[in-house]
Amino acid sequence: MTRFHQQLLRLLGILMLAFGAYSATAQEAIKIGVILPLSGPYADYGEQIGNGLKLYMQQNGDTVAGKKISIIIRDDTGIAPELSKRLAQEMLAQDHVDILAGFGLTPSALAVAPLATQAKKAMVIMNAATSVITTKSPYIVRLSHTLPQISTPMATWAAKNGIKKVYTLVADYGPGIDAETAFTKTFAATGNQVVGSVRVPVTNIDFAPYIRRIKDSAPEAIFLFLPPGSATIGFLKAYNEGGLAKAGIKLLSTVDFTDDTLMDTLGPSVLGVISSGHYSAAHDSPLNKAYVQAYAKAYGTKLRPNFMSVGGYDGMAAIYKALEKTKGDADGDKLLAALKGLQFESPRGPIMIDPDTRDIVQTVYYRRAEDRNGKLYNIEFDQIKNVKDPGK
Ligand code: PHB
Repeated sequence: MTRFHQQLLRLLGILMLAFGAYSATAQEAIKIGVILPLSGPYADYGEQIGNGLKLYMQQNGDTVAGKKISIIIRDDTGIAPELSKRLAQEMLAQDHVDILAGFGLTPSALAVAPLATQAKKAMVIMNAATSVITTKSPYIVRLSHTLPQISTPMATWAAKNGIKKVYTLVADYGPGIDAETAFTKTFAATGNQVVGSVRVPVTNIDFAPYIRRIKDSAPEAIFLFLPPGSATIGFLKAYNEGGLAKAGIKLLSTVDFTDDTLMDTLGPSVLGVISSGHYSAAHDSPLNKAYVQAYAKAYGTKLRPNFMSVGGYDGMAAIYKALEKTKGDADGDKLLAALKGLQFESPRGPIMIDPDTRDIVQTVYYRRAEDRNGKLYNIEFDQIKNVKDPGK
């Protein structure tokens, strides 16, 4: 063999190796199966979460540790746990997804949890907020919030601010029951009184009958959790029409009622509402300013980012950061090990995944609904750092 032939063979070998590596990378693309409500009454949730996660990918590229990231998004239409479960089954068995993500509502997250355990795949919760969800599979991590995490500080604030009699109104399912339980327990421990409580069906939008009952017990304030949308809009309308605003009965809520998506729809009667929450589009930090700007550039100014979008954005950030640690290995146990204890700066402030509970630890802010140049915002006026989920 001549020298020329030897060199040619070596070159061919190098090319074959390179091609082999290339096709291996292409085959090993990491697939993320995202389940979101994209139609029906909670379609906004899916839009916000999807916008957040896609924005993270736009900014950070679709390759991590040399692996291509591909996302498959499916619509579970809202509260339809059987459908969420079927979609997860299909994505695991047919699409061979490596990671499950999304989950706008609690029933959907609970329905899919056993499948994550069975398949040993990481499951990243981007909104669903009932405390118990993370206990349903060792493969679950949460990047949103929990209702006890947000409601406990609200009860402390009410007591500190001289409110003695509160009525609670919540949607009758996981997050509502969590909010009611946490608020009532903390408020009672301060020596104050919940004078009445009602749980309304999650799909209820007519609040007139409840408003009459609340008025009769003459509370100083109402504490509420309702999933944002027709329910929150319907509640505020009945609160005004039923004369509760005029009677000076204050509204205290979790982040969910004064959702940034709906602030302008709720209108001026939301002004003055005090809420506790983990994210406001008005959060004053350089990272959040950049986030709000990038969101507007990507999606227009009609929809501003809300807490759900940040759940999607941070959920994706957590996946990328964990994959960097595992050098691109999406094995469920390895990813979970990398996710536990993960800390980073989010548009909402500093966050951490509690290594023991796999739930988020974050700052809870007190906010007041105010007008800023003709737009309604939740303006933060106080905060508690490093709040864990007290529901566990
Ligand atoms: C939930 O179903 O877990 C849920 C829905 C809407 C929220 C928060 C939690 O704003």
